[in-house]
Amino acid sequence: MDKKTIIITGGAGFIGSHVVREFVKNYPEYLIINLDSLTYAGNLENLTDIENSPNYRFIKADITDEKRIDEIFETHRPDGVIHLAAESHVDRSISSPLEFVKTNVLGTVNLLNSARKIWGNNFEGKRFHHVSTDEVYGALGETGIFTEETSYDPHSPYSASKASSDHFVRAYGDTYGLPYVITNCSNNYGPNHFPEKLIPLCINNIIHKRPLPVYGEGLNTRDWLYVIDHAKAIDLVFHKGKNAENYNVGGFNEWKNIDLVRELCRQMDQKLGRQKGESEELITFVKDRPGHDLRYAIDATKINSELGWKPSVTFEEGLSKTIDWYLENQDWLEKVTSGDYMNYYRKHYSI
Ligand code: NAD
Ligand code: TYD
Repeated sequence: MDKKTIIITGGAGFIGSHVVREFVKNYPEYLIINLDSLTYAGNLENLTDIENSPNYRFIKADITDEKRIDEIFETHRPDGVIHLAAESHVDRSISSPLEFVKTNVLGTVNLLNSARKIWGNNFEGKRFHHVSTDEVYGALGETGIFTEETSYDPHSPYSASKASSDHFVRAYGDTYGLPYVITNCSNNYGPNHFPEKLIPLCINNIIHKRPLPVYGEGLNTRDWLYVIDHAKAIDLVFHKGKNAENYNVGGFNEWKNIDLVRELCRQMDQKLGRQKGESEELITFVKDRPGHDLRYAIDATKINSELGWKPSVTFEEGLSKTIDWYLENQDWLEKVTSGDYMNYYRKHYSI
């Protein structure tokens, strides 16, 4: 069996925790190191079911700390890096752009440098997998779709920082021959999603009968993918993707925000035994996000035709599983929304 040491950064976050679980379960012969600094978005409780697995280790470290990252790479000499650690919320990037430059750009370059130092010129069996977003491609109008050839055109400080990190990864491939793959994925949803993002925020607010803040007129469109399908795509691309290429990952599942929030209300009224239409009354249109991208839509033909990946969960199924998870894990929700969460919430929403 092929023994490997893999560092997964951001493994305590939403998507990272599902990726860590997928790898720990599928590859008992690997050592999976979860490297995470545990910001407000990182939560080791996302991983309690696998935390005692013999092939899993957690290291608390900040990817912006050059010296520490070098030491960790020297000590553990990973064969692969799957890089998810990032500041990930667009609204926070609008109020604190520099944090996004530090973590998403500088942090990525630190990891690339540390990988280069230990790999030297011997890249046999080595790979840096950079996990990115469809937001680097900018915004679509009513029609069109993002392919791997679409030019980068980021609009928010978040997407600009992710685009920059993608460029650095490619530059290290072109300049130093560092082996890499990049995945650009659409909006994820599912268990363990931090309730600052649209779907978990609305689920939490519906539970508590609080207003559901919809930006502008709710006409912006996102392409939603169940998080475990994203984790499986990362597994495939990490192992089988072609070197120095990027793969778009998406759900073929576009929803206007207002329709999505209405669907959440419909399913939750049913599950909570509330009257039909009760939660829809909580919908509150609020001031739009500045520079709000109108529409994202991913063409995932390449990963489908080259690697055989496709979403395994329908949206109805995925959303229902997601709501059930939050209803069954209200203690998780309460813990992550205590403390600083309400400070952010009050500052950002005046409802
Ligand atoms: P998240 O915010 O839930 O988790 C980010 C994790 O990174 C947290 O555990 C946090 O503690 C850690 N982290 C942050 N700064 C760090 C630092 N300086 N050093 C070490 N760890 C740090 O994010 P997510 O939604 O799980 O996204 C993960 C990755 O996937 C990001 O790179 C994001 O850009 C990308 N992505 C997200 C989506 C989405 O819909 N959420 C879609 C496509 C791509
Ligand atoms: P979000 O979950 O923040 O993801 P992203 O900005 O990365 O797409 O937002 C999804 C969509 O929902 C986006 O168009 C912004 C909108 N939105 C609201 O209407 N209200 C909210 O409170 C939030 C957080 C987002």
